[in-house]
Amino acid sequence: MKELQIKINATQETSYPIFIEENILNNAYEYINKYTKANRFLLITNDKVYSLYGEKLKNKNTEILILPDGEAYKNMDTLNLIIDKAIEIKLERTDAIIALGGGVTGDTAGFAASIYQRGIDFIQIPTTLLAQVDSSIGGKVAVNHKYGKNMIGSFYQPKLVLADISTLNTLDERQFKTGLAEVLKYAFIEKSCLADKDYKLFEFLDSNHNEILNKNSAILKELISICCELKSSVVNKDEKEKGLRSILNFGHTYAHAIEKLTNYEKYTHGEAVSIGMRLIFDLALKEKFISIEYYNSCINLINKYRLKTDYEENFDKEQFYKTMQSDKKVKNSNINFVMPIKEKEVKLTNNIDKKIIVGGI
Ligand code: NAD
Ligand code: GLY
Repeated sequence: MKELQIKINATQETSYPIFIEENILNNAYEYINKYTKANRFLLITNDKVYSLYGEKLKNKNTEILILPDGEAYKNMDTLNLIIDKAIEIKLERTDAIIALGGGVTGDTAGFAASIYQRGIDFIQIPTTLLAQVDSSIGGKVAVNHKYGKNMIGSFYQPKLVLADISTLNTLDERQFKTGLAEVLKYAFIEKSCLADKDYKLFEFLDSNHNEILNKNSAILKELISICCELKSSVVNKDEKEKGLRSILNFGHTYAHAIEKLTNYEKYTHGEAVSIGMRLIFDLALKEKFISIEYYNSCINLINKYRLKTDYEENFDKEQFYKTMQSDKKVKNSNINFVMPIKEKEVKLTNNIDKKIIVGGI
């Protein structure tokens, strides 16, 4: 069993544990009851995840709301369904919402928990690799708006994260690779995460790629825990993304534009992120922020995991730039980039010329 502690501002109220283990869902309520005082629960999941794991979370004190599956449903209508259900079943302030599923479920249910009766306890049970290494920890919860992704949301930390790595066995290859894109992201930013320890994630990924692609459970447990430790190191220092936390958006500036211009339908979030990381490595090489040796080693790692690096669209450069400018991370119309500068290190930049930004599109 891996147990990590997230310590945001080091207060009792905002600190919470992450448990990473196989088959932890079989005794989920032992953990849930230890870390919340809730009497009743509203479990939010989707039809696919419910059919796989819903049975394990059934309990006399738990009502279940099954949502339709997909990013297209991460919106205010779905949020209202959750709030309606919470009111209908008379969920009280001392009760809790549980999210069982991937990042879409976690982000939507977490946002509902943050606003229902001004905030009730929330438990994350992530079942995708992306959610286990990224979205279930750190407290970003949100839904999309027709004008942009994650436009409406809060920072709201869960009371507990239960990552059952055996759930990854039912994840298809495409979704597993989606999570791997976020995993590789941590390898490219490791030094900038300012963790107490050198995890050598880049080397770990390089030498264990067969085990990881074959979902070796001991290696996956190690991998997920390294990613969680790196993310928590960043979030502990900058919960509300005043500066440092932006490094977690490495590759995302391009990714968000690609996702938006393809209506969130063609590429998964992780696919867009791996394409975005390739684009920013290309830019960094061209502008001499990084050496050709480092560039090659990063692209080789991305290729070793057979992640997506290309898109088929012929994007209009002007439209692409405008889309990037509408991202919520833009300040005074300047597009912020997390730029690779040397091995495993990145820095925030916002003074890159438009021509250079869309030059490789
Ligand atoms: P997702 O939630 O849509 O899940 C992907 C697919 O896998 C879905 O079809 C889902 O039903 C299915 N699934 C989930 N668990 C499964 C399992 N164990 N076996 C089989 N199928 C399973 O997508 P995701 O990649 O988990 O999350 C993407 C979302 O996360 C995006 O909305 C993104 O914006 C958000 N995100 C949030 C943060 C954050 O910090 N809050 C960080 C990164 C991404
Ligand atoms: N996934 C980016 C963040 O949590 O800040």
